[in-house]
Amino acid sequence: RREYHIVVLGAGGVGKSCLTAQFVQNVWIESYDPTIEDSYRKQIEVDGRQCILEILDTAGTEQFKLYMKSGQGFLLVFSITSLSSLTELSELRDQIVRIKDDPLIPLVIVGNKSDLEEDRAVSRARAFSAAQSWNNAPYYETSARRRNNVDEAFVDLCRQIIRK
Ligand code: GTP
Ligand code: MG
Repeated sequence: RREYHIVVLGAGGVGKSCLTAQFVQNVWIESYDPTIEDSYRKQIEVDGRQCILEILDTAGTEQFKLYMKSGQGFLLVFSITSLSSLTELSELRDQIVRIKDDPLIPLVIVGNKSDLEEDRAVSRARAFSAAQSWNNAPYYETSARRRNNVDEAFVDLCRQIIRK
């Protein structure tokens, strides 16, 4: 059994903790309680292989360097209702590549809150082209609220780490 370190990063309030809670515990959290730092473990099977994921849920406004050093894969989360939350990912991604000294570091771009279509501020095309410009990172639109595409995003990341 292998253990993989995943770090969930992104601006405050985009839904990092809700996505993590849905993935790990299958629960929906309506209230907003800003994170300091939480870590979770979850065992999953990917392509017939048992993996233990150690998931670090970070704070929206933290200093990321230490997290980045230990991470093997990164879930970069923005909210489709906030354009600035997408543009913030650009700098985060640059920092990850710099600190890991690896332009091929496994990452997944996640546009969360897809259930809030009426409040959409970032088109799918725009997010997709941003993800492509970050070394063709896969892009998923998720809803933590509806538990939509949550497993897919985490499993994709896990698969990238395994194949590396
Ligand atoms: P920080 O810990 O401060 O960085 O925030 P966070 O990114 O962890 O956000 P969190 O998961 O705490 O969610 C913030 C708020 O957004 C909460 O009120 C959630 O209920 C709401 N939220 C999260 N995901 C979704 C979603 O997919 N859809 C909707 N409608 N609301 C969501
Ligand atoms: Mg949080």
